[in-house]
Amino acid sequence: MYKQLIDRLEKENNLTADEYLSLIRHRDEIRGYAAERAIVVRKKHYEKKVYIRALIEFTNYCRNNCFYCGIRAGNSAAERYRLTADEILACADDGYALGFRTFVMQGGEDPYFTDDILCGIIRRIKDNHPDCAVTLSLGERSYESYKSLKEAGADRYLLRHETCNAEHYSKLHPDTMSFERRMKCLSELKSLGYQVGAGFMVGSPFQTEEDLANEMIFLREFKPHMVGIGPFIPHKDTPFSEYESGTAEMTVFLLSLIRLTLPRVLLPATTALGTIDPKGREKGILAGANVLMPNLSPLHARKKYLLYDNKICTGDEAAKCIVCLSERIKSTGYEIVTDRGDYNNGI
Ligand code: SAM
Ligand code: FES
Repeated sequence: MYKQLIDRLEKENNLTADEYLSLIRHRDEIRGYAAERAIVVRKKHYEKKVYIRALIEFTNYCRNNCFYCGIRAGNSAAERYRLTADEILACADDGYALGFRTFVMQGGEDPYFTDDILCGIIRRIKDNHPDCAVTLSLGERSYESYKSLKEAGADRYLLRHETCNAEHYSKLHPDTMSFERRMKCLSELKSLGYQVGAGFMVGSPFQTEEDLANEMIFLREFKPHMVGIGPFIPHKDTPFSEYESGTAEMTVFLLSLIRLTLPRVLLPATTALGTIDPKGREKGILAGANVLMPNLSPLHARKKYLLYDNKICTGDEAAKCIVCLSERIKSTGYEIVTDRGDYNNGI
């Protein structure tokens, strides 16, 4: 019966919330088959390619206070840093030499980075590397700001919605943040022509299996180009320090369901997945993921961009990281490619 549900999901890319829920509840029985079919679907659109994105974590200042996040404003133990424009450009140059063709600028919501400053940096990256894509992950900004950044050359934007349940959202964030605003940002980004990434943490405090089933419905309806999911991992200096981590097994199963729901989606096997399970990223690729986002920030910054405890890859140089990742990927039978790796819209 669960096999039939997976077959129908592959064919129609849609199930009801109850059907998704029954798959989630019985995932132990069906995870192998779900991964098998997810891989077939992924190969149809992206062959055996794994796209790599150079992640540049350029500021850990943040005005927000998300309860789960290690760089929240209220964490006075976090050592703050921001990279200069020249440092960001140097990361991009290093990344280019290593074969990266997408640069992801990610940071906390740092008011220092005004539109003018960011647009200047984006223009310089695009001038130096016109064959590359620039992805931003800077949190919530105004429509005008998103528009200016797009006009400066940004191609994609990652903004995880964190949960599709408004009540759950309010348990993960202080009252100063709102679910409606998050959703508004996502639809504005889409309307401006960005390739948009949504996503959520797996096993975040108060999340239920019903919530996860509804996440699949939300993704099906919103149709993001990219979906970032990873297990919640507690950080010792946050209000959620005592909560349990999400699991690799649930994350990997959901990656398969997402691939079957959104066949062409760009789907990373995240650092959080690699942190919770040493083979997590390989398992993610073997369950339908097709993107890796290694960290290219300078070493001094990496040790400070700590969203959760025990984060991996905070000590190796970029060149070493890419060798390590290539070997890991080869071991799965897939191959890392030097390519912008845009969303394949079938045209
Ligand atoms: N400020 C930007 C934003 O809000 O989108 C980007 C940076 S934010 C740190 C990136 C993502 O990290 C969040 O969307 C969240 O899902 C994830 N994250 C934060 N704390 C985490 C934790 N404790 N465990 C796992 N993921 C976490
Ligand atoms: Fe702002 Fe996490 S609270 S990036």
